[in-house]
Amino acid sequence: MTTSGRKVSLTGIKPTGEPHIGNYIGAIKPALELAEQYEAMYFIADYHALTTVRDPELLRHYSRSVAATWLAAGLDPERITMYLQSDVPETFELTWILSCVTAKGMMNRAHAYKAARDRNAESGKEDLDAGVNMGTYNYPVLMAADILLMDSDVVPVGKDQSQHVEYAADIAGSFNHLFGGGKPVLKIPALVVPEADTGKTLPGTDGRKMSKSYDNTIPLFLESAKLKKLVRRIPTDSTPVEDPKDPDSSSVFQILEQFATPDVTTDVRKRLEAGGVGWGELKNTLFEVLDEKLGPLRARYDELMLPGSELTDLLAAGADKARVRAREVLGRVREATGIQ
Ligand code: TRP
Repeated sequence: MTTSGRKVSLTGIKPTGEPHIGNYIGAIKPALELAEQYEAMYFIADYHALTTVRDPELLRHYSRSVAATWLAAGLDPERITMYLQSDVPETFELTWILSCVTAKGMMNRAHAYKAARDRNAESGKEDLDAGVNMGTYNYPVLMAADILLMDSDVVPVGKDQSQHVEYAADIAGSFNHLFGGGKPVLKIPALVVPEADTGKTLPGTDGRKMSKSYDNTIPLFLESAKLKKLVRRIPTDSTPVEDPKDPDSSSVFQILEQFATPDVTTDVRKRLEAGGVGWGELKNTLFEVLDEKLGPLRARYDELMLPGSELTDLLAAGADKARVRAREVLGRVREATGIQ
C-alpha cells in the first residue's frame, strides 16, 4: 500500500523484440486497465533480456522501443512509474541476498531451465546444461528481486510467468522466516493473471497463434501501406463471396473483434453469416479499423523514438521514483540481515 492508499502492481517487460498487436491485446490493454485500479509500476527488464540478446545496438533499441510503445499506448507517466531495470542498481544487492535464502533445488525445477535441459536430452547431448548460462539459471532470483524490491502487492503477468511469481512469494517467505524473526520484512506478492490471457489468443498472419517465434506477427506501429499488405496476407479459405461464412473460424474476424467497437463487430458478424461479403472486403475493414486505432499511437511512438525526445527524461524520472521505494525496502533488508 502506498500513500495514495492504492495497492502496488508491478510488471516487467523483457525488451527482446518489436511489439506486435498480440502484445497489445494480451499485455498492454490489460495493463492500461490495471493502471486505473492500482499504483502501477512498469519497468523494462533489460538485464533479463541480456540472457539472450547479444547485440548492444539491438538491446538499446528494444529497450527504448518497449518503453515508447507502452507510453504511446496510453500509460500516463504522471500517474504510473516507468523505469529501466538497469537504472535501479539496488536490484542487484537484493538479488544476491535473496540468492542466499533460495534453495538451489527450487531453481533446478524452474520451467525455463528445465526446458533447456529437456531440449539437450532430446537432441542426445551428454551434458544437459550445455548452452545454459548462469543468467538463465538465476533468472527467477533476479525477477524475485524486481518484485520484492518495490513492495509489490500484485504482479499481473501471463500464465507463462506464473511460476516466477510463485517463486518470488516463496523466496520472500524464506527470507522472512530466516531473518524476519516473525516480522514480514518483505511483502509477499500475489499473482494476477490478466483476463485476456485466460481466454483466446490472437491469430497471426499464418493463422497460428501470433508469436515472435513463428515470425507471423503484425507489428504494432507499422506504417499504413505495410500494414495493409500484411493484413492481405492473412490466410482465408476459398468460400465464394456470396456464400455465408463462419466468423469464428476466420483469423481476420478474430483480430477484428479485438480492435473494433462492439457495434462494428456485431454488424460484420451478421453480414458474414448472411453471405455476400468476401474475405477481401473483410480484410479492408480490418485494415481500416487497425489503422484508425493505431494511427495516433504510432505518431506518438515515432515522436518518442526520435533521438533527444523526452523519453530519456521520463525514464530517468521514473527511476528516481522507483529508487526511493527500493532504498526503503533495501534498508529494511539490510537491517534484518546485519549487512551495514
Ligand atoms: N520474466 C518476464 C518476462 O519474460 C519479465 C519480468 C522480469 C518480469 N522481471 C519481472 C515480470 C518482474 C513481472 C515482474 O516477460
